[in-house]
Amino acid sequence: MEVEQILHMNKGVGDTSYAMNSTVQNTIISLSKATTREAIVKTVCSTWTDSMGIADLGCSSGPNTLLVISDILDTVCATTRRLERPSPELKVYLNDLYTNDFNNIFASLPGFYRKRRQDRASETGRCFIFGAPGSFYGPLFPANSLHFVHSSSSLHWLSQVPAGLEEEGRVVNKGKIYISESSPGRVLEAYGRQFHNDFTVFLKSRSREMVKGGRMVLSLIGRDSSDPTTPQSCYQWELLAQALLSLASQGLIEEQKVDEFDVPYYAPFMGELKSAVEKEGSFVVEREEVCEIDWDGGDAAVGGTVVSRGERVARTVRAVVESLLESQFGSHVTDKVFQVYTQLVDQHLSHTSAKYINLIVTLVKHA
Ligand SMILES: C[S@@+](CC[C@H](N)C(=O)[O-])C[C@H]1O[C@@H](n2cnc3c(N)ncnc32)[C@H](O)[C@@H]1O
Repeated sequence: MEVEQILHMNKGVGDTSYAMNSTVQNTIISLSKATTREAIVKTVCSTWTDSMGIADLGCSSGPNTLLVISDILDTVCATTRRLERPSPELKVYLNDLYTNDFNNIFASLPGFYRKRRQDRASETGRCFIFGAPGSFYGPLFPANSLHFVHSSSSLHWLSQVPAGLEEEGRVVNKGKIYISESSPGRVLEAYGRQFHNDFTVFLKSRSREMVKGGRMVLSLIGRDSSDPTTPQSCYQWELLAQALLSLASQGLIEEQKVDEFDVPYYAPFMGELKSAVEKEGSFVVEREEVCEIDWDGGDAAVGGTVVSRGERVARTVRAVVESLLESQFGSHVTDKVFQVYTQLVDQHLSHTSAKYINLIVTLVKHA
């Protein structure tokens, strides 16, 4: 099944929603703030226009969505002020898959517009926010309509589970749900190939939509080693597979369903990402960074209650992958999966300090 039919972050603003459990992604946004601001300043200077197109790809819904937009708009306005030019009209497109909770974003727009008018009445140009549903692995916008593109914590999602995880009708990644230390080489190759193909389609699509001199700041989970089986690259999935197998051993789910389940996700190495950019040919890499983030985002409280690190990690992961697990195993086992996962993560964090690796790149459209 296509990812766009099943993947969505947990909707609404309840306890297990993405809106209430996206601190790690918020930290990631903060880490790329300086790079994003620098890229906007350069874009405004090099592609001066009185009507600027801006897109956030994989915007989800929750506090992070409009926080990113607010910072982008402030930076555009501050830059045009410094250049002593009038603020351009700003067309902001919020993109995510069709099943994203766009209603929640739209409901928060009146407050967002009101606050901007109050805070910056004389400085802000006219700003129009649009929803742009669809997959970023394909066309989304008219040709030459975008000057600046931002995407955070989204491009590690593939368009589909890679083909090639079966051999003669048998699964080759038994008991695993992603690349692991014991995965056969063909699993590693299948994931790497899928990322390369997807990322190339992404670049081609944006290339048509962006003006020359336009910039993209892309921030995604990756890895700092060319080896995709290091713990930093894949151990969060190893523990989720263990939680699922534990439920299978209790007869709560079928083991075969675990064997057949693989996540449509890939944490690339910076070299893979840059090589796809070079081969596609429309963009040049202007800036690159690699940083680390604690699995729990370093935040001790959830809704004012102090919980274990394992629980914080489990809540973050649940808000992101619950829709995928439900489509394979049904909704009745989700609470149990994440209870076991919490224990496994707590055990793991008692003897190691687990980190995600985040890649940030600025790409400039040159052709
Ligand atoms: C972890 S959320 C990140 C949301 C937000 N950018 C943030 O930093 O909080 C990842 C988002 O990417 C979206 N996504 C994944 N694949 C996508 C695709 N092919 N096209 C558009 N959005 C996609 C998911 O639906 C999800 O909302």
